[in-house]
Amino acid sequence: MDIFYPHNSPDILPLIQYIFYYLIKYKEPMIFLDIFSDKQIKRAPFWFMRQAGRYLPEYRAIRQELGGFLNLCYNPKQAAEVTIQPIRRFGMDAAIIFSDILVIPHALGRNLNFGEGEGPLLDPLKEIADVPELDEQKFLKFLEPVYEAINITRSLLPKETALIGFAGAPWTLSCYILQGKGGKDFAVARQALYEQPELVKKLISVLTDAVALHLSAQIKAGANAVQIFDSWAGLVPATHFNQLIIEPTKKIVEFLQKNHPNIPIIGFPKGCGAFLKDYAHTGVNAMGVDMHYPLERAVFEIDEKFILQGNLDPALLSASKENCLSEAKRIKNIMQNRKHIFNLGHGIVPHTPIENVEILCKFLRGE
Ligand code: CP3
Repeated sequence: MDIFYPHNSPDILPLIQYIFYYLIKYKEPMIFLDIFSDKQIKRAPFWFMRQAGRYLPEYRAIRQELGGFLNLCYNPKQAAEVTIQPIRRFGMDAAIIFSDILVIPHALGRNLNFGEGEGPLLDPLKEIADVPELDEQKFLKFLEPVYEAINITRSLLPKETALIGFAGAPWTLSCYILQGKGGKDFAVARQALYEQPELVKKLISVLTDAVALHLSAQIKAGANAVQIFDSWAGLVPATHFNQLIIEPTKKIVEFLQKNHPNIPIIGFPKGCGAFLKDYAHTGVNAMGVDMHYPLERAVFEIDEKFILQGNLDPALLSASKENCLSEAKRIKNIMQNRKHIFNLGHGIVPHTPIENVEILCKFLRGE
């Protein structure tokens, strides 16, 4: 049972947290999944992108103990532990498995390193001959620690908490594979669209299969829902949106719906702007809306049966509690007559005060 105990706290604290945790646990059904059904639910479910991470001291402690970031991603027990940490503290309605989108290129044989404070570094892919083949058995074997982490996490999470698996979308993964590192404009990757269209086509095709396979394996391991992160959808020129975002997403969704018909799929095409409506027709069951898109407009444009997720600015969560709560109220107001998963417009930032997250969670639970 010590999986529920916080780190470095005096003896009495774990007991109080444990009791509190169970009070939360038995209060409600799994409302995260209920929103995907016809059931009536009494409030919007919530979770936060990057809810496990450096803003939590217990994450930093494990991260330091294990050394490199990838050591944590491929350590099933500790990955499960850091996945559960935010649930233990805040009781979100869903946990997201602790991993990274870049494990896919890694499993495809691309070199990957996370330098301290530097973000990801890969060997940039330059030649069409270097586009990796997908050897399904090898790929799944490499990613076995992720599936094991999901299995462990599912067995330890409260029944009422959903577990979300995830993958980066083919275009977003291509950005890192072609550029070789993180960035804001991925100029090298975008240039390749025009200079090496055949290379990009081949890469997107391999990645589409790899993403579908990875998500399917996560579902088999126990994930209750999956999210596809297209963090750099906003960089795609309008002329290529269909080819790079819509078509690959449709293929992934088709594969998953055929093999796992009852598992909800959330798409997050960050920065997709004018293409929001097109993305809603890829077959995904819900869609994340970033904070640059007016939620009022999304509500107006997208069919009311379709679930929208988002979109509080993470900068507000790391700034003032008052402004954060008033924005949360505004969002809830806009979304009051439709299906909504409350989330952020992007991931929690490392300097977010824990107290702000606590206050927001209480507000979202109606406490
Ligand atoms: O809690 C969760 O959301 C689950 C874990 C998760 C991580 N990365 C852990 C992580 C998830 C869902 C991701 C997705 C991810 N990774 C995305 C898509 C979402 C987004 O942010 O747009 C992207 C683009 C990446 C690639 C990536 N991973 C970058 C660019 C970086 C460096 C930037 C940074 O924040 O340090 C990472 C590292 C990373 N992934 C960290 C975490 C907790 C920080 C690593 C550390 O502990 O030092």
